[in-house]
Amino acid sequence: MKTLLKLNSSIFGENGASSRLTDAFVGRWLAAHPGARVIERNLATDPVPHLTADAFAGFNAQPGERSPAQQAAVEVSDALIDELERADVVVLGLPMYNFGVPSALKAYFDYIGRAGKTFRYTESGPEGLLTDKQAYIFATRGGIYDGAPSETETSYVRQFLSFLGITNIEFVYAEGLALGDAARAVAFESAARTIEQLTDALQRVA
Ligand SMILES: Cc1cc2nc3c(=O)[nH]c(=O)nc-3n(C[C@H](O)[C@H](O)[C@H](O)COP(=O)(O)O)c2cc1C
Repeated sequence: MKTLLKLNSSIFGENGASSRLTDAFVGRWLAAHPGARVIERNLATDPVPHLTADAFAGFNAQPGERSPAQQAAVEVSDALIDELERADVVVLGLPMYNFGVPSALKAYFDYIGRAGKTFRYTESGPEGLLTDKQAYIFATRGGIYDGAPSETETSYVRQFLSFLGITNIEFVYAEGLALGDAARAVAFESAARTIEQLTDALQRVA
């Protein structure tokens, strides 16, 4: 049975555009995978702490050498990584705030990027340890970037996930959401069509 992990970080909760798109996708994905397990993690309402030097030292220390605070940080990190390891499919809502990822999502990334657990260094370079996963990313933004160099958000997210071994990534965009009702409607229609195409393809495979 497949497991899907849904990660949201919109400050607008379930009304966020990225949350609406992830919900639409997961609903259709579940229709193609009846009985599958869905794990939901809302990083805006249940935030991961900002990484500190103390917590980072704890990540790299032996279990018996950690302070209670370091042990607590490791347990949070381990739980997030276990959840990610269990997932076959990762669905990520990706709002753009101030040209980048929500700070809540960055804090999460800092807790799952763990040497020896989610990546390792080898003689031939870094190797991601989270393999055999498919990611679907729902990028929502007020402006229109359409691959312009000024848009570094999605390349950053692709780079980070690939570093951890998640290289099968589909991006779905809803752009121009701040450019008026008509532009907003076009953006949602376009994203909905892409979601239909992606999930129809899954139906054909299933
Ligand atoms: C604090 C804040 C910063 C934003 N910064 C940008 C930005 O840099 N570029 C942009 O195109 N849109 C920006 N927007 C618009 C959001 O990308 C847009 O509202 C999008 O729907 C956010 O996704 P969400 O609704 O899932 O939270 C910003 C919105 C907020 C609230």
